[in-house]
Amino acid sequence: MTGASGDVAPERRPASCILPASPAAIARAADELISGRLVAFPTETVYGLGADAANPDAVAKIYRLKGRPADHPLIVHVRDSEAARRWAVWSDEAERLSRAFWPGPLTLILERLPSACAAACGGQPTIGIRAPAHPVSLRLLEAFAERGGSAIAAPSANRFGRISPTRAQHVQDDLGADSPLILDGGDCEVGLESTIVDLSRAQPALLRPGGLSRVAIEQVLGRSLLAPDAAAPRVSGALAAHYAPRTLLELVSAADLDARLASLTLAGQRTAVWSRAKPHANDTIWRAQATDATVFAHQLYAVLREMDASGVDRLLIERPPDDEAWRAISDRLGRAAVGSGSEEAGDDVRQAR
Ligand code: TXA
Ligand code: MG
Repeated sequence: MTGASGDVAPERRPASCILPASPAAIARAADELISGRLVAFPTETVYGLGADAANPDAVAKIYRLKGRPADHPLIVHVRDSEAARRWAVWSDEAERLSRAFWPGPLTLILERLPSACAAACGGQPTIGIRAPAHPVSLRLLEAFAERGGSAIAAPSANRFGRISPTRAQHVQDDLGADSPLILDGGDCEVGLESTIVDLSRAQPALLRPGGLSRVAIEQVLGRSLLAPDAAAPRVSGALAAHYAPRTLLELVSAADLDARLASLTLAGQRTAVWSRAKPHANDTIWRAQATDATVFAHQLYAVLREMDASGVDRLLIERPPDDEAWRAISDRLGRAAVGSGSEEAGDDVRQAR
């Protein structure tokens, strides 16, 4: 019998699949990938669940393990723009953005080359591609290339609709007995997924705000990015309910926080609060919010996971400031709130558009 990853019989699987990312562990992970098995690995944004992007059977294991709909494309990870040209129709704007921001938290949506494996792209005519900056991702891509591999398809290593993992233990917590080998490269520095820019149509569009700011991208392109419209390619991070804790999550303004907390307490709801200032009720579980957006993003998913595991009935989170530096954070918290409170991964997922 095989697990959902189709790899190791459950009775023979070790209690922990986490290996510190030593050269030997990276070599072993590259062997796993070349053999068609899955590997979870750190990127600078979040941990990815990787498979050989050129192997449709290996890619199918990602969809099974994540519980992800088959028409939701994955991001293909490459070492650099030279490798990207073997998968995508390269353009002048792709060249400029990759020179400015790769390796780094930017995914480009480009027309897919006919030779590129359709499975990794969810059957779309386009491909999402990025060069990750984490040293372990880069070494894994190198070791994979030494064995004849080309690119690693990898979504975030969480169950569909759930909170993305920013440390190795999160991956194991989420995938449990189905976990493949997990390379431990410590906490992800950025903590939020990559920014996704669609270059496959006449006007470039921002499909998902993320680790790289819209302004930085617009400066390099010399024109502004459109908002996604109904014709834009599908992005599961754009579903209204995503990144979701099981506990009901509410966003409130600082001004309303104490009153909301009091009414929840009156209604018998045990509540954990994440806000800048400590609430007046001093018997509440409280965490202080970082006031710097970069620090906040780095902590976001780990704090959501901790609060979700704390056994309370409700999470009350102070709404972040309404400005560009906080855009990706507001996006994730908004989707986490919409999807919160359901036991089933991916349950009750509603389209944002
Ligand atoms: O930072 C990241 O991007 C992380 C790390 C692991 O690289 N990956 C990540 O993957 O967030 P995932 O699958 O959780 O989100 C990838 C998003 C999805 O929403 C998917 O729909 C979109 O990228 N995507 C991938 N290829 C696409 C394509 N051809 N057209 C439109 N959207 C695409
Ligand atoms: Mg994801």
